[in-house]
Amino acid sequence: FHVFFVFEICFSNLIIVSCKERPHPSSFPNNFLFGTASSAYQFEGAFLSDGKGLNNWDIFSHKPGNIMDGTNGDIAVDHYHRYQEDTDLMENIGLNSYRFSISWARILPKGRFGKVNMAGIRYYNKLINALLRKGMQPFVTLTHYDIPQELEDRYGAWLSPEVQDDFRYYADVCFKYFGDRVKYWVTFNEPNVAVIRGYRSGTFPPSRCSGSFGNCSDGDSDSDPFVAAHNIILSHVTAFDLYRTKYKKTQGGSAGIVMNAIWFEPISSSLEDKKAAERAQSFYMKWFLDPIVLGKYPEEMQEILGSILPIFSKTDLEKMKRGLDFIGINHYTSFYVKDCIFSACNKGKGVSRTEGYALWTAMKDGVLIGEPTALEWLYINPPGMEKIVTYIRDRYNNTPMFITENGFGELDRPTSTIEVFLNDVKRVQFMNGYLDALATAIREGADVRGYFTWSLLDNFEWTDGYTIRFGLHHVDYTTLKRTPKLSATWYKQFISDHQARS
Ligand code: NOJ
Repeated sequence: FHVFFVFEICFSNLIIVSCKERPHPSSFPNNFLFGTASSAYQFEGAFLSDGKGLNNWDIFSHKPGNIMDGTNGDIAVDHYHRYQEDTDLMENIGLNSYRFSISWARILPKGRFGKVNMAGIRYYNKLINALLRKGMQPFVTLTHYDIPQELEDRYGAWLSPEVQDDFRYYADVCFKYFGDRVKYWVTFNEPNVAVIRGYRSGTFPPSRCSGSFGNCSDGDSDSDPFVAAHNIILSHVTAFDLYRTKYKKTQGGSAGIVMNAIWFEPISSSLEDKKAAERAQSFYMKWFLDPIVLGKYPEEMQEILGSILPIFSKTDLEKMKRGLDFIGINHYTSFYVKDCIFSACNKGKGVSRTEGYALWTAMKDGVLIGEPTALEWLYINPPGMEKIVTYIRDRYNNTPMFITENGFGELDRPTSTIEVFLNDVKRVQFMNGYLDALATAIREGADVRGYFTWSLLDNFEWTDGYTIRFGLHHVDYTTLKRTPKLSATWYKQFISDHQARS
């Protein structure tokens, strides 16, 4: 049956994915979660409905020039009103989990300074219940970049330790109202990206920049990203501690954090470049995971940054002893890394001390690390999946892992027709390659428990607006009609093959 299906797909859609190349579905454990991922700001819309407060992305996207196509997430893909239909689409693929985020400002429009918005609670209750009815585990992120604007206005959000109290309060509300049914909690999505883009390049809210990036305005400082990160780490630790002590016993779930995880390959076999690749990892992923899992910032960060790097107090360190139950990995791309301490680097990106004197580059001897895509940061390199998972397994003692995101984005050109998007052969090849590499890592012992593809639907791709499509379903942004792409059919078959074999 397997062979027959692959041929059918191959001929009817001209995809070249042979049976041999397909990841063996039985490489994945029995209770493995297969899902898709989304986030509140990119999906929900309804930005002023039913008592929701304004968040940092509402404000940011409404400022002219911030979003490439001048759009925003006011309506997005209207998931807020169409969640029923969207859970039907998931059910049709045969998913057993859905990763989504809660809009903090929908639950607490003014942070801890105002009331809980019960209409927001009702919305997420309806979504969670719809998922459970259809046999899908909710996998819930508390903060996927968007935070109530109130926190920015009152005390500068992540730059102030006060934010830890707000996050704890918010997490408490979510655990209390949803924790009887939600068994997987993520505190933060990609805090490394939020901090680098919000406080270094200035391309995400709150538009602050530092280091060698952007047009730094007076008052922005090199230490901002590290202060913001420190407060995020402590917010995570505080919320995790709250869950562990107050809810875990009765609710029986688990909690973790999601990092953007790039595979950094040394550009040469020299010791300098190998060390530079490690530094790149330190200043990117280990920046957050080391303190949370190992109780301290990476040595290299401490040496290079000195007093710029905040210090953990004794009480913090005590709580950090048990920092998470699982690590969420958003993996898309790989880069080569070149040393900038002992060798000359081009001035500019990636050479300053706040980036660990490590230069990221996609090119080595005139050859790219992977096939380029419409996104300047996305190079298709499936072996990077096996390498990053194995790296995380080794560094963090095989802590349970989930691939919380992996996906392929395509540029929406004015001349593109829907047919071109529906026949998304490239996305199928992308998923096939990355799942195959993941299967290898699992066979070699990595404790990976789920895979979520980004994304169920085309959606609002942050500063790229609606110009990039990541969905397994095409969305017509005028009618909001959803149409399955070839990748949705492929994923459905892949999951059913897995079920048949387990
Ligand atoms: C990671 C982010 O979590 C998500 O919001 C984004 O849309 C995807 N990457 C694709 O860029």
